Amino acid sequence: MTILDGKKVSNDIKDEITEQVKKMKAKGEKVPHLAAVIVGNDGASLTYVGSKVRACERVGFESTMVRLSNTTSEIELLDKIEELNQNDDIDGFIIQLPLPPQINTQKVLMAVDPSKDVDGFHPENFGKMALDMSTFIPATPFGILELLDRYGVETKGKHTVVIGRSHIVGRPMSILMGRKGFPGNSTVTLTHSHTKNITQITSQADIIISALGVPNFLKAEMVKDDAVIIDVGITRVPDESSPKGYIITGDVDFENVSKKASYITPVPGGVGPMTIAMLLKNTLLAREQRM
Ligand code: GUN
Repeated sequence: MTILDGKKVSNDIKDEITEQVKKMKAKGEKVPHLAAVIVGNDGASLTYVGSKVRACERVGFESTMVRLSNTTSEIELLDKIEELNQNDDIDGFIIQLPLPPQINTQKVLMAVDPSKDVDGFHPENFGKMALDMSTFIPATPFGILELLDRYGVETKGKHTVVIGRSHIVGRPMSILMGRKGFPGNSTVTLTHSHTKNITQITSQADIIISALGVPNFLKAEMVKDDAVIIDVGITRVPDESSPKGYIITGDVDFENVSKKASYITPVPGGVGPMTIAMLLKNTLLAREQRM
């Protein structure tokens, strides 16, 4: 069994980006600038955005965090987005999800200039991805592809089962794994809350990508020998013995599933750090496209 070490690979990627930024600086070019908008005070979202900003500092990018109150109206957020669209100094930006209920997420994501949409959530970019055109690929799916690629995990002709159809992970992942190319060329099954007899499906999978958000959902009995297991779950489970009062728990019963798997991502230290590295990669791409 091989651990797919997202922490190590993401550090390698950050080192590669740091080198590229140094070269840009040496040539007198502007360095990439990422902005992140966060609405409200959700603890997990604040942690993620904080990590994104710190990652920018580490690779030499500029970053701007825009914090808006929980009572921000849709119009106010749309005005902020327009400001970021027009601001020539910002190469790419993200709107951290989820948004408070008074705001229509789809409307907001459609307001982002596709050329600055480093999350790849705008329908134009999502459509390009589905049509094999060059575009920003959403950071978490992009990170999973990169991890499979760097470990040389074979995906061609394999049966990939994706659990969860979210717009951020499950749906794009199901498209990417079935695309022509590497990683890709899999036969994909997308499962969700209405899927019947999920064990029958997962136990036939060569590759399982779980993005459900239910701690320890995937048990050893649901997995065949030598399967590749990608755990996208990052649920905060209350735990009084931990200093933060919670522990981060994946969708996979790691202790038992890892005994059967050929490759498996840990939580934490698997997919999570890859997401941040690929957001940086998309931001670098956005900068290069604006030159
Ligand atoms: N919320 C959970 N994951 C993501 C992500 O990748 N991007 C944004 N903007 N929000 C998220």
